Amino acid sequence: MNKTTTLLFLFLFTFLTTSLSKDLCNKDDKNTLLKIKKSLNNPYHLASWDPQTDCCSWYCLECGDATVNHRVTSLTIFSGQISGQIPPEVGDLAYLQTLVFRKLTNLTGQIPSTITKLKYLRYLRLSWNNLTGPVPDFLSQLKNLEFLELSFNELSGSIPSSLSLLPKLGYIDVSRNKLTGPIPESFGSFKGQVSGLYLSHNQISGFVPKSLGNLDINRMDFSRNKLQGDASSLFGANKTTGYIDLSRNMLQFDISKVEIPNTLGTLDLSHNGITGNIPVQWTEAPLQFFNVSYNKLCGLIPNGGKLQTFDSYSYFHNKCLCGAPLDSCK
Ligand SMILES: *[C@@H]1O[C@H](CO)[C@@H](O)[C@H](O)[C@H]1NC(C)=O
Ligand SMILES: *[C@@H]1O[C@H](CO)[C@@H](O)[C@H](O)[C@H]1NC(C)=O
Ligand SMILES: *[C@@H]1O[C@H](CO)[C@@H](O)[C@H](O)[C@H]1NC(C)=O
Ligand SMILES: *[C@@H]1O[C@H](CO)[C@@H](O)[C@H](O)[C@H]1NC(C)=O
Repeated sequence: MNKTTTLLFLFLFTFLTTSLSKDLCNKDDKNTLLKIKKSLNNPYHLASWDPQTDCCSWYCLECGDATVNHRVTSLTIFSGQISGQIPPEVGDLAYLQTLVFRKLTNLTGQIPSTITKLKYLRYLRLSWNNLTGPVPDFLSQLKNLEFLELSFNELSGSIPSSLSLLPKLGYIDVSRNKLTGPIPESFGSFKGQVSGLYLSHNQISGFVPKSLGNLDINRMDFSRNKLQGDASSLFGANKTTGYIDLSRNMLQFDISKVEIPNTLGTLDLSHNGITGNIPVQWTEAPLQFFNVSYNKLCGLIPNGGKLQTFDSYSYFHNKCLCGAPLDSCK
């Protein structure tokens, strides 16, 4: 080997060894992650979290690129044998945009207030666990939050009205908990497009706020609660809603003049106290699922559109509905 080749090899060797041994992982993030692992009792699920290796190579997380100095931007702990509470240290992963604890039936306790330190957080999914306590008011401090999923837990108390202060929040799923109290009046003042509002299987009571009619929500499921009164503001021919499930509440209003969006694919109003006639305008919607059974409807089922593609079980148990698919009107 001549001198130049030797130098080149030396250079390459130095370059490779330093670049391979250099952790991308931020030291603070690594320390925090190791505390999180310890606080979850060193579960097998986090076996790849070995202090000797670069934390950006560990499972269940992602580091950002050089623009954020490879800080941890995503932590997703999903479906493992994990017992304990959400470690408060997650609040120290300062660059997190995504935080997921999902399908961990032995994950108990409350949502820790330390997550308010996560000022870049966009996606928060803490669903299918056994979390207790409230849907915390402090979530309204997460100004970048776009997506909030807390479904399938044991959360109680009422829905904090302050959530509507979040300028980017467009998806809320708090279904399948033990929530009580009303739908906050403030929910009519969400700034952005609301793609989903899922409140089903709780004990939510009171009237559906009229202000919700100001929004054009893509999908809403308020089923199996204790809502009462008039929900007609949720409808409107000019909206682009695709999915409305209000079944199994105590709603009482007249649908005779209610127009539905011509984008509506699912409408479930079953098991309420809804009165009036089904409007002819409803034949214009591309309905694929339709159920108005167990109400107090009356009169002729309009003929046309999709309305006769459903069988009598979509219409039965009403006051005096008639016409196909039910018996013809007298
Ligand atoms: C939950 O905890 C119980 C009791 O400690 C244990 O038997 C069970 O395997 C745990 N389940 C999961 C999914 O971790
Ligand atoms: C968690 O929830 C499941 C299903 O809801 C339940 O069967 C289980 O007992 C709960 N576990 C704990 C530790 O609360
Ligand atoms: C629907 O939109 C049309 C045209 O933009 C408008 O004339 C009409 O008043 C609107 N109807 C309702 C109920 O908002
Ligand atoms: C409509 O709801 C009723 C009452 O819950 C139910 O018996 C029926 O099967 C439903 N129809 C469809 C198509 O799901």
